[in-house]
Amino acid sequence: MDFSGKTIVIGITGGIAAYKACDLIRELYRLGAERVICILTPSAEAFVTPLTLQALSRQPVYSSELAVDPSGTPIHIVLAQQADALLILPATADCIAKLANGFSDNLVTTTAITFTGKPVLIAPAMNTRMWQHPLTQENVRKLESLPDYTIIYPSHGQLACGETGEGHLADQTTILQHLYRMLHPQAGLYRGVKALVTAGGTFEPIDPVRVISNRSSGKMGLALADELWAMGADVTLVTTMPPSGRLYKVLSVQTANDMREAVLTHAPENRVIFMAAAVSDYAVANASPQKIKREREASPSIELVPNPDILAELGQQKHPEQILIGFAAETENLLKNASDKLQRKNLDAIVANDISRTDIGFAVDENEVTILFADQSQCTLPKAPKAEIAQQLLELLARRLNSPRTASSV
Ligand code: PMT
Repeated sequence: MDFSGKTIVIGITGGIAAYKACDLIRELYRLGAERVICILTPSAEAFVTPLTLQALSRQPVYSSELAVDPSGTPIHIVLAQQADALLILPATADCIAKLANGFSDNLVTTTAITFTGKPVLIAPAMNTRMWQHPLTQENVRKLESLPDYTIIYPSHGQLACGETGEGHLADQTTILQHLYRMLHPQAGLYRGVKALVTAGGTFEPIDPVRVISNRSSGKMGLALADELWAMGADVTLVTTMPPSGRLYKVLSVQTANDMREAVLTHAPENRVIFMAAAVSDYAVANASPQKIKREREASPSIELVPNPDILAELGQQKHPEQILIGFAAETENLLKNASDKLQRKNLDAIVANDISRTDIGFAVDENEVTILFADQSQCTLPKAPKAEIAQQLLELLARRLNSPRTASSV
């Protein structure tokens, strides 16, 4: 996720989860945000001090609806003009009720009603009874029906009051994903498209303790899944490295056979498939059910058997509307080997990466790839963070594979 150049306003209202805004400010800056500006309701000041927020955000903090900037312009107007998104966190039942009924009696509600044509995200946190009250639910539905509003639903968990239930502020990754999606430059490019992505190296057991695997961290596949989701796709990620807090379907697998089963089960309903996983080509013939003891076997040998080639099977079963993208991890003859795989596995495109380099490819945050298409054209994406590579790859595919159709018909 990248928030470079973005100004985010966090509207904090009076709930115990207000302190979570502190961590979020730091994370937004870590992810590139240009400015994070905090505004508070009077009761929020009882939970988190303006001084703390000012120190973390390195920006003035406002809590009066009468606040003005040095030119005398009311702050809520300045924020509505200059900021990219308003995130109300935590949003109390009272704040939600006021917003749903057009009240503007504090700086947060006044800013919200001024903040038109830009994303407003509301992350409620409150006691379960308050959250489930029919009036709160009706207010939430009202807000949800507004075009620029997103409700980031609270989760089930232990609440500050000691009770357990719905009302726990959504976790930070979930909140950031929503914000990222709302601000994404290519929001909607893959709207309604069902996409399947695989990620990570498979783990082939030798015994209950040891495995054969590889250096894939799952980062490239995860970046693709995140970007696809942010561009509106209906994503299923099949991975050996399940991430936390994702808002799309994540299926956790271990072996190549597990991955094959999950992929083949879900493939038919997906329009686009990206095989970014590093599937082990071999499994152990007779994995030991017990830990192999050093004292008993001084130099054990392992017999390997070939694993199924999932991508090749997908290539054989591919339906005419399906787009199949493979990845090639090569240490030599990068383009030649990738091109062979493109043809042999009946792919629409293959993304070739040079894993002999330590600054790109396996287990690092950046990659540099050459995409080979079935029509023999190719395109190189220079070294960049994997999220950026994923974004460029998806833009390129939408343009090339849909032309002259629209991307939404991918
Ligand atoms: O996970 P990261 O640390 O971020 O690293 C990213 C990556 C380098 C793993 C990724 O960008 C990548 O190259 N993934 C493919 C790795 C791989 O297995 O390449 P391959 O050339 O061995 O396989 C070619 C294609 O066939 C791949 O799409 C692979 O998923 C697929 N395959 C391979 C073997 C097999 N038995 N079944 C398969 O489906």
